Amino acid sequence: MELHEALYTTRAMRRVKPDPIPFDVQARILDAAVRAPSGGNSQSWRFLLVDDPGVKGRLGPLYREAVDALWKTLYAPRVAAAEADPDSAQSRSFVRVRRSSQWLADHFEQVPLFMFGFARHDPTGGSIFPAVWNAMLAARAEGVGSALTAVLGIAHRDAVFEVLGVPADQGWHMACCVSFGYPTGKWGVAPRTSAHEVAYRNGWGEPVGFEVAAPLWPADGAAYVPGSVEGGAR
Ligand SMILES: Cc1cc2nc3c(=O)[nH]c(=O)nc-3n(C[C@H](O)[C@H](O)[C@H](O)COP(=O)(O)O)c2cc1C
Repeated sequence: MELHEALYTTRAMRRVKPDPIPFDVQARILDAAVRAPSGGNSQSWRFLLVDDPGVKGRLGPLYREAVDALWKTLYAPRVAAAEADPDSAQSRSFVRVRRSSQWLADHFEQVPLFMFGFARHDPTGGSIFPAVWNAMLAARAEGVGSALTAVLGIAHRDAVFEVLGVPADQGWHMACCVSFGYPTGKWGVAPRTSAHEVAYRNGWGEPVGFEVAAPLWPADGAAYVPGSVEGGAR
């Protein structure tokens, strides 16, 4: 797959089929992950794959509880805002993310594969997230969808350590839980706030010097059709 296609179309793909991901595909995903940089090349990371129905069965209720709590606490103002003004673009976008996130919670046990990322003495996760993103990009190249989630580690860290047998006294931090599976939906370019609106040059708030009105890939503003793209960004 062309690099830019992976960069632009690796979205949070939470709705996936239960079909298993072959071990050779998993090996390529993990091998790409460990090529990533880490501070001082310490590689103080562990990737714990979960595909066992019994283990998923113990984690699923924890995941659902964590997501339920999220809607009632951190995201409560956004839930209320979306209910008050359902037609605004912001509300519609939030409702889409909420439905998709809820789907993952409701179908946790049917997702074929999870990858838990653990970083040692690194509570920020700065030294493992490049590897996690490498894994997600490599999965994209294999046609495997993924979604990075943090909610389980935030709400139920100790319970997850217990279920997975992670040593509690060796400085390991749970960075994330990534779901993997073959998507039920279509790949697309991620809509985001434009680069020039979130970038400055030489000083806070100073214009960056260019404007990007629309995604610069696929080249010449062509609509993205999965599998049809050749060549890089213009
Ligand atoms: C640090 C981090 C934590 C996240 N945690 C969760 C999570 O707990 N549950 C979830 O469903 N998605 C989670 N996400 C996924 C984001 O919701 C997703 O990347 C964002 O909505 C953009 O989605 P898109 O690429 O499909 O546009 C997380 C993403 C990041 C980067």
